[in-house]
Amino acid sequence: MATTVDSFQIGLGQNLCEVLWKDGHVSRFHAKWLRFNCRCVKCYSEVAATYLIDVPSFPLDMKIATVKVEDSMFKVSFAGDDHVSILPADWLRSKCYCDVCLELKLQKADVITQYIENNAGKKKEIPQMEYEDILTKEGMFNWIGQVITSGVCIVRNVEPTPEKLEEIAERVANIEETTYGKLSVVKISSTEGNAAYSTVKLPFHQDQTMYEKPPGIEFLHCMKFDECITGGETKIVDLYEVINILRNDSPADFQTLVEVPVVYSTIDYKRANKVYLHHQKHVVVLDYFGKVVAINWHPALLSTLQVREKDVERYYKAHVKLLEIIRRDELHFFHRMRPGDMVVFNNRRVMHSRNKFEANGGDRQLQTTYVSADNWKNRYMTLAHELNRNVVAPKIGNGSSI
Ligand SMILES: [Fe+2]
Ligand SMILES: [Zn+2]
Ligand SMILES: [Zn+2]
Repeated sequence: MATTVDSFQIGLGQNLCEVLWKDGHVSRFHAKWLRFNCRCVKCYSEVAATYLIDVPSFPLDMKIATVKVEDSMFKVSFAGDDHVSILPADWLRSKCYCDVCLELKLQKADVITQYIENNAGKKKEIPQMEYEDILTKEGMFNWIGQVITSGVCIVRNVEPTPEKLEEIAERVANIEETTYGKLSVVKISSTEGNAAYSTVKLPFHQDQTMYEKPPGIEFLHCMKFDECITGGETKIVDLYEVINILRNDSPADFQTLVEVPVVYSTIDYKRANKVYLHHQKHVVVLDYFGKVVAINWHPALLSTLQVREKDVERYYKAHVKLLEIIRRDELHFFHRMRPGDMVVFNNRRVMHSRNKFEANGGDRQLQTTYVSADNWKNRYMTLAHELNRNVVAPKIGNGSSI
């Protein structure tokens, strides 16, 4: 008997196996689940993407015939199937899918909610790191983890050149190119048809929500920001904090943003690099568990609402409520950039904005680029593995809770 197993029994109807663990926890595993997840060498390969189980060959009404535990391994046989499934007891315990275990796994992965709760009522401060400190493997791991946890981090004293920005981004993952190219510049220009090139206030937004998959991790690297300029501060707000407030205070408006889609659009045939990007999507996306797993908000990119008549009024009501929460000063992170500052943030989680400014004869220039959120998380997990760090795969706002 495995040290962790107290007892087990085949359930009535033989379609599941109930296990009582030594810590008192009870797990129930379905026959098909046990067969499908067999870890024997015939059924399971450590090499990714090798699918060895042929589900259609299982009996429709699969029944467990016998269960044994030997050397900490469950050995399960099935009626009408001559295969014996082998599943390590500890592994099986870790894969328990009772409501309690599922909720615990979701909570552990949800570093976003943990961060918001741990920092409730505290002054909003963007974590900072020095360029020198992100150069080692350890430093890079800490930096990537910081952005995952808090949604935003400033790296200071990064040589203010586009080449350095590109080099740093690519040290983590391939740059994700958009219609604005691999790197793009935000500077004062009266000839570009984009508010980012003006001196006006930019409202809170996520970048490029008109893509099916908006950019993931964004680098905003300050090249020039002359002292004489007044205003122009960068502001950040955590959309997950905003949506949590909406969900608690105005559940009907929250539900509206889950159900009624908007359209984001950038269509411009006049610019040299013509663009047609147009996508209908939901502002708030829930997963199977009812957890918020993606948020899409860029009011300036909204195209005309194209939904059924019954949903129009309630959409605008929710839109107003959402903006009211976003505009609460107490939710805002605030930073005046200096040349060499690189603000790195999760564009799928936080929004950014810029205060209006007076140039007063000075110059302000930022360079931006992106890497995908998937690749950011990938680098985090693989570095954790290399460095022997025991971390839980975190939720990052890219559509998945776990
Ligand atoms: Fe932006
Ligand atoms: Zn097998
Ligand atoms: Zn459980």
